Amino acid sequence: MHALIIGGSGRTGKLVIEQLLQRGHGVTALVRDPAVMKGLDGINIVKGSPTQISEVRQAFQDHIPDVVIVTLNAPRASDSPFAAPISPPRLMADSNANVVTAMKEFGVQKVVIMQAFGVGASWPNMSCLLRGLMSASNMSYQYEDHNVVDKEVRASGVTYVMVRPSRLVESDVTAVREWPNNGKGVPLMASTSRKSVACFLVDAVEESRWDNTAPVITN
Ligand SMILES: NC(=O)c1ccc[n+]([C@@H]2O[C@H](COP(=O)([O-])OP(=O)(O)OC[C@H]3O[C@@H](n4cnc5c(N)ncnc54)[C@H](OP(=O)(O)O)[C@@H]3O)[C@@H](O)[C@H]2O)c1
Repeated sequence: MHALIIGGSGRTGKLVIEQLLQRGHGVTALVRDPAVMKGLDGINIVKGSPTQISEVRQAFQDHIPDVVIVTLNAPRASDSPFAAPISPPRLMADSNANVVTAMKEFGVQKVVIMQAFGVGASWPNMSCLLRGLMSASNMSYQYEDHNVVDKEVRASGVTYVMVRPSRLVESDVTAVREWPNNGKGVPLMASTSRKSVACFLVDAVEESRWDNTAPVITN
């Protein structure tokens, strides 16, 4: 299979690329700065931004993918929940809209998108403490952007998987627990390693059982 990854220069994105290569898949990465991809050999790199439709088209043109994986973030000045947003309000929404447009033009059926526990229908299942933090802090901007993606990608008619991990951590844990009913019962401090998210995203590329769902995952 050949995957196009959008956000492949990010912390989870790079782990997704490693996982794809380990499993024998081909990879094209659309990245703003190819220099940050040093050390990731054997992939096709296209320079460009997902916010520019012409550059997204170029990535599809370069090697028409079987599937697209999106691991974008809408960054703040730091990882603190209160740090100011430094990305445009629809960064992820516009990027995913461009991906969907190109998918339709090139006949690509499926997109697998990394989101977060609390997006869309999983919101009521986060503890009230976390919902308070997400609403009162600058994390709300990121959630709003993810929520627009949720609505627009569902309405677009393409096949999607929107993966919703809890708080991300760096560890080598790869086993994932999947929570039915949009994450009902996920504990307040539940965490998910970026590595396990990467494995799950590639599982969702390879298998169809999560198609058109939004699984909530933790370790
Ligand atoms: N932090 C948590 O605890 C947590 C929990 C659950 C889910 N999540 C979700 O996980 C995702 C973040 O994953 P991560 O930490 O692996 O991401 P990350 O390391 O911050 O990577 C972000 C990616 O987004 C790209 N990007 C950022 N701003 C951009 C812009 N203006 N234009 C084009 N590309 C841009 C970056 O490209 P460049 O390299 O070019 O900047 C990079 O590839 C988010 O969707 C977040 O909601 C986070």
